[in-house]
Amino acid sequence: MATEMALLKPVTKIGYCGSATIATARTNLPRRVSTVIRMSAATGTNPGKTTGGGKNKKAIKETLLAPRFYTTDFDEMEQLFNVEMNKNLNEAEFEALLQEFKTDYNQTHFVRNKEFKEAADEIQGPLRQIFVEFLERSCTAEFSGFLLYKELGRRLKKTNPVVAEIFSLMSRDEARHAGFLNKGLSDFNLALDLGFLTKARKYTFFKPKFIFYATYLSEKIGYWRYITIYRHLKANPQYQCYPIFKYFENWCQDENRHGDFFSALMKAQPQFLNDWKAKLWARFFCLSVYVTMYLNDTQRTAFYEGIGLDTKEFDMHVIIENLKRIPHIAALVSELLAAYMMKPIESGSVDIAELDPQLVY
Ligand SMILES: [Fe+2]
Ligand SMILES: [Fe+2]
Repeated sequence: MATEMALLKPVTKIGYCGSATIATARTNLPRRVSTVIRMSAATGTNPGKTTGGGKNKKAIKETLLAPRFYTTDFDEMEQLFNVEMNKNLNEAEFEALLQEFKTDYNQTHFVRNKEFKEAADEIQGPLRQIFVEFLERSCTAEFSGFLLYKELGRRLKKTNPVVAEIFSLMSRDEARHAGFLNKGLSDFNLALDLGFLTKARKYTFFKPKFIFYATYLSEKIGYWRYITIYRHLKANPQYQCYPIFKYFENWCQDENRHGDFFSALMKAQPQFLNDWKAKLWARFFCLSVYVTMYLNDTQRTAFYEGIGLDTKEFDMHVIIENLKRIPHIAALVSELLAAYMMKPIESGSVDIAELDPQLVY
């Protein structure tokens, strides 16, 4: 609670949603033009390119921190989820999780109303572009989850039908989230061309264990980001400038369930958690996910300030809340921070070959 209270800071730099300086007269609204956004498949973009179909199409700059699409070693995934080969798979737990996903708590949650367009029309000036970027990035990230989970659902069907169905149902959730965000872009007369993105964008390859670390963290972080924004705006309705945030309370429960599923998956793969190499990799991923989140958010302080949040305190809140729920990862991160803060000792050359590998950790 103390951390949440600390999030509430006055915003002065660019104004905020409730600020009269941002909402300008409707007569200044841009002419309604439907623009389809495409993300370039390679570095180097082609902004403003007009292609067929009568719609304006522009490219989005692809950067190191842009949300990525992922692929993995699906053959190894099939082996990991083969119940004959992996006796750690707790079938009762996965069956229970499947029933939870089948319940589909948010089936009727993502229904839009006329408030969306009206609110978007009120957002003008610098905040409008910031909002568009927020919707684009969020939509791309959700769609990335959809693509990966959909393929895993397809590939694991024969090996482990229960796990496969859970992946398919998670891809249902992510498609819903991405679609809702893309509808949000239509309020700003834009749309992401998701079909084009699927085909044209580069995919980053991660081995299965890295997929587990990265997706588990991003789902849990996603949960804490959404719920923190939701609670903040509920307590401070003057910043509630666009209705999508009202949907975050139930929405984040989807992300929480996804994270719980990855937690069960990792428990079934103890080799990804328990040896010293795995622990180092888990540390690395934990740190890199947080660093990426922090760098992304500090580049977008205007967005968080626009809804009345202090970016640094928001990030710290998300990290702390996430870590409170994940004691083993919290322990890893605290060890990492402790190691980072250790006083270095000057030394001569060390013959690595003589070291016991167990001592590396
Ligand atoms: Fe999602
Ligand atoms: Fe998710």
